[in-house]
Order: sequence, then structure tokens, then C-alpha cells
Amino acid sequence: MQIVQSVPALRQSVRLWREQSLSVAFVPTMGNLHAGHIKLVEEARGLADRVAASIFVNPSQFGAGEDFAAYPRTPEEDAAQLAAAGTDLLFLPPVEALYPSDPAAMAFVEVPGLSSDLCGRFRPGHFRGVATVVCKLLNQVQPDVAVFGEKDYQQLAIIRRMVADLDIPARIHGVPTVREASGLALSSRNAYLAPEEKSRAAQVYANLLEAAEELRRGARDFARIERERSAALAARGFQPDYFAIRRQADLAPPVPDDTRLVILVAARLGKARLIDNLRVDL
Ligand code: PAJ
Repeated sequence: MQIVQSVPALRQSVRLWREQSLSVAFVPTMGNLHAGHIKLVEEARGLADRVAASIFVNPSQFGAGEDFAAYPRTPEEDAAQLAAAGTDLLFLPPVEALYPSDPAAMAFVEVPGLSSDLCGRFRPGHFRGVATVVCKLLNQVQPDVAVFGEKDYQQLAIIRRMVADLDIPARIHGVPTVREASGLALSSRNAYLAPEEKSRAAQVYANLLEAAEELRRGARDFARIERERSAALAARGFQPDYFAIRRQADLAPPVPDDTRLVILVAARLGKARLIDNLRVDL
């Protein structure tokens, strides 16, 4: 696996592939890799001839008071895992390579509407930072396909919308969430949980399953289900930001006839903010 740290070196490597008519899949990450990230790389290998991954803890998607400084950084272990999974190229830029000038004076990408709801209500500016850095990375790599996890369902919806609206010539491929045996979705931020909190954290997925079961049994009182599941999490010591039933396609609140739903949750537990979601096809 080749490791490059600058945009020109990245472009040069991809150009050599293109000269051989090789297709390229791209997996952007913030590092501290776990089996969920590695699943994305494995999927990527089936989608193109070559796989490029990036590790970049993107400052512009962290708000004031969030965990940018504390975010776990493990580049050596990450590089070994990526190489073992069959990654061909790792882009590992320093912050200055992506933000060479005052970020406040730089152009940005915003997907309105989708970005202000759900997590956007609790993390103002977060999705602008995500859309901007993903747009930059897609322009830098110019992959045929880019691979993202459904774990970050709202992020995936925003990226799909950005790529469609701005005619970015990359296909976006979503991968189902990888979970622990307990049901807890793998996340770099699970490292913030104490052992007791980690076993309690499985309640997030348990409540998603419970809500999905109610919908399958015919319940359509969405607001009641949301309220009760939020209260159930609060009773177990979580501070829920939201527990919301939405439409898969546009994340809008559903009407009773909608059949393709997704249940999304964000809740704080100890030092961690956990997010998860579950698609429900009725
Ligand atoms: P990060 O949190 O490192 O996640 C990188 C990719 O891995 C994302 O597409 C995310 O959805 C996926 N992922 C994380 N946990 C997963 C799991 N348990 N199962 C399957 N996929 C999982 O998301 C980001 O980084 C950043 O916002 C980024 C897109 C890289 C932009 O900075």
C-alpha cells in the first residue's frame, strides 16, 4: 500500500491508474479504524480495480466544544489494517493540505434543508463541514465510486444530494451498519464509553428494534412511538437528542401510508454521543 500526504502526490498516483484504464473506488474516513470501516474497504474492492482510502480528522465538521482535539488518532494501526484489507493507496494529509488558508474565508458546500434537521439541529455547521470536505476529497481523488456507511444515514443522504445537485461524477455506494454482538453499532466514539456504559449502549439498538416491531405490528402513531422510546432511553441514563421516525428517501416526517421508513436516534451516554438508525420496509 502506497501512502501519500499531498494532493499533487495523490493525483499523480490516481493518474497512473487511469493511464492503465483501471477503475477507482474511494473510502473516506477519519481514522481510528474498526471493522465497520474495514467492511467499506472490502465492499470497495468488489466495486473497482483499485481502492484508495483517506484518513483525515476534518476540523471543519467539529463544532466549538466538540471533540476535535480528543478524537482518537491511530494512523500506524490504521495503515496496517487498511493494507491488510487490500487498500492500494492511503491519503493521509495534514490539515494544511486541505485547508491551506483561513477556513473562514474559503468556499464551502452546503446542502440546505437536510443539513439543519436531526443531528444538524444539535451540531450546527457539522454537515457543512462534512459536505465541504467530502466534495474536496471527491475532486481530489475523482473516483468512479465512493463508499460510505449507512451508520451515518443523514450524512449519506446529504452526500447523495450534494453529488446529484453538483453533478459530481462519482457513484455513491452505501454499506449496512456493522454491529457488535450486543447490537451496538461500531464507532470510533465507543472508545469514550466506560465498560458499564458500553454494555448499556446496546439499548440504543434495542429501542430501534422495539420501535420497528411496533411499526410492523401496524402502529402509525409516530409521535407516541418517538416519545416512548426517547423516554425509555432517558430512563436508562441516556440524554437523547432525538428519536425520530422518517422517510428513507428524503428524511421528511412520514404520513401513515408511507412504507419505506427509517428510525434514527442520537443520544448521549457518559462522554459519548451515540447515533444509530434502522431502516423499516413495511
Ligand atoms: P468516520 O466516522 O471515520 O466514518 C467513515 C465511514 O465509515 C463513514 O462512511 C461511516 O458511515 C462509516 N462507518 C462508521 N461506522 C460504521 C459501522 N459501524 N458500519 C459501517 N460503516 C461505518 O464519517 C466520517 O468519518 C466523516 O464524516 C467523513 C465522511 C470521512 C468526512 O470527514
